[in-house]
Amino acid sequence: MNIILLGAPGAGKGTQAAIICDHLKIPTISTGNIIRAALKSGTEMGLRAKSYMDEGKLVPDEVVIGIIKERLAEDDCKNGFILDGFPRTIPQAEALDKMGVVIDRVVDIEVSDEEIVHRLSGRRVCESCSASYHVTFNKPQEEGKCDLCAGTLIQRMDDHPNTVNERLNVYHEQTEPLRDYYAKQGKLSVVSGEGDISEITRLTLAALEA
Ligand code: AP5
Ligand code: MG
Ligand code: ZN
Repeated sequence: MNIILLGAPGAGKGTQAAIICDHLKIPTISTGNIIRAALKSGTEMGLRAKSYMDEGKLVPDEVVIGIIKERLAEDDCKNGFILDGFPRTIPQAEALDKMGVVIDRVVDIEVSDEEIVHRLSGRRVCESCSASYHVTFNKPQEEGKCDLCAGTLIQRMDDHPNTVNERLNVYHEQTEPLRDYYAKQGKLSVVSGEGDISEITRLTLAALEA
């Protein structure tokens, strides 16, 4: 099954993708995580993306489309995948269609802007495996340490309050129109992203079975 998780920055796409990919035994592809890994290893693409990312702006379409093309060609995507953070613009969605990638279901995780600001200010991410935690809503077993790989938890550069507002503006202007795009294709399900993480997982899995 080929799945897209849509939603604002901080809606819980990464959190849900990590749980669902385990259930369905398919990989999660997060363009944000791929770009951050490239930046960490100092590749040219990573360095080019840095200024956009740090300001809360989108990395140019041709860069992320290139990343996705390469990643989807890998063997582990043959039985399906979850896209987290891609597509984020209409041209990116059109590029997927042009590649002949058939998307089965798009789940839009809805969270209010106000709640997003709370979530991102308290988010901590694992430096090694990118798992997401929250200082009050989703604490790791041991403070500052990843439950999954024991990596160190850090705060993302773009989780700074001013950058969060810019990311929200970009989301409303450029990403929200994708809801209509996929609704017209009959592929969109909307779930509430507020409440217990396990309840949101239940709603998401139900939407995938529908
Ligand atoms: P990316 O890494 O994709 O960031 P994002 O979309 O801004 O989303 P986040 O990772 O911030 O949020 P999430 O929905 O995964 O939430 P999470 O599960 O962590 O992209 C970063 C940047 O890369 C972009 O700004 C852009 O520059 C570039 N980029 C990436 N893809 C691109 C593309 N396709 N095109 C162009 N540029 C691209 O949860 C958030 C927090 O809330 C966590 O602390 C979590 O523990 C907590 N939480 C989760 N669920 C709940 C709940 N139910 N209740 C309470 N707290 C919760
Ligand atoms: Mg994420
Ligand atoms: Zn980890």
